[in-house]
Amino acid sequence: KVFANQIEASQRVARRIADIIIKKQENSENAVLGLATGVTPINVYKELIRLHREEGLSFKNVVTFNLDEYFPMKPDAVQSYVTFMNENLFNHVDINKSNIHIPDGNLKQEFVQAFCYEYEQKINHFGGLDVQLLGIGRTGHIGFNEPGSAPNSGTRLVTLDDLTRRDASRDFGGKENVPNKAVTMGIGTIFKAKEIILMAWSEKKAAIIKKAVEGEISSDVPATYLQLSDRVEFILDTGSASEL
Ligand code: GLP
Repeated sequence: KVFANQIEASQRVARRIADIIIKKQENSENAVLGLATGVTPINVYKELIRLHREEGLSFKNVVTFNLDEYFPMKPDAVQSYVTFMNENLFNHVDINKSNIHIPDGNLKQEFVQAFCYEYEQKINHFGGLDVQLLGIGRTGHIGFNEPGSAPNSGTRLVTLDDLTRRDASRDFGGKENVPNKAVTMGIGTIFKAKEIILMAWSEKKAAIIKKAVEGEISSDVPATYLQLSDRVEFILDTGSASEL
């Protein structure tokens, strides 16, 4: 779906999420949200905060699982996805802090595999993700599933692509300061979500959106796997859709 601009598109995505939360509330159930970081979802979170403040949308029944985190990364660092989520959403809504899950970038490497296994178990324990939000990296990554990721991959430690580290360099004051690795949900984890919403804005994403939507399905561009599911929606602005 192509929108005139990212504000309209983000409002539409936020409305969908709010509807899921409200429907679950009516049934006294948790809404299990898979959340993403990066600049792409920021206006969705802004709209959710507005719905909380102005329309009384409550997050009391919301359980969240974030896609990824840099590794190594201390949770209180300015670049951590913990800081990002707190600043852009969690600090502004009535979510129960114990319902928030973000991959731990601060573990000793030998404990990461067990952590990843438990992360998957926790998602299953809450009944699976009702919806997963995604951005897209210029390598075609979703989460931090870089080229070469297998379609059945689970949550794991991965090595970041050079282009991904270059794109992140402004947040870290230079590419050399960007961590080499990340902990990410796998393609398989993402695919288990009941609904998947990939968002992309501006001409900067037009080339990779063309590959993701129209290209041959291949691990070279992990986002092409999304073509295999009918539970996926691409939400674009005119810029990111300009090469389709
Ligand atoms: C980041 C995140 C991804 C995100 C992508 C695009 O590195 N790990 O989950 O979708 O890259 O980022 P942005 O939204 O800032 O363009």
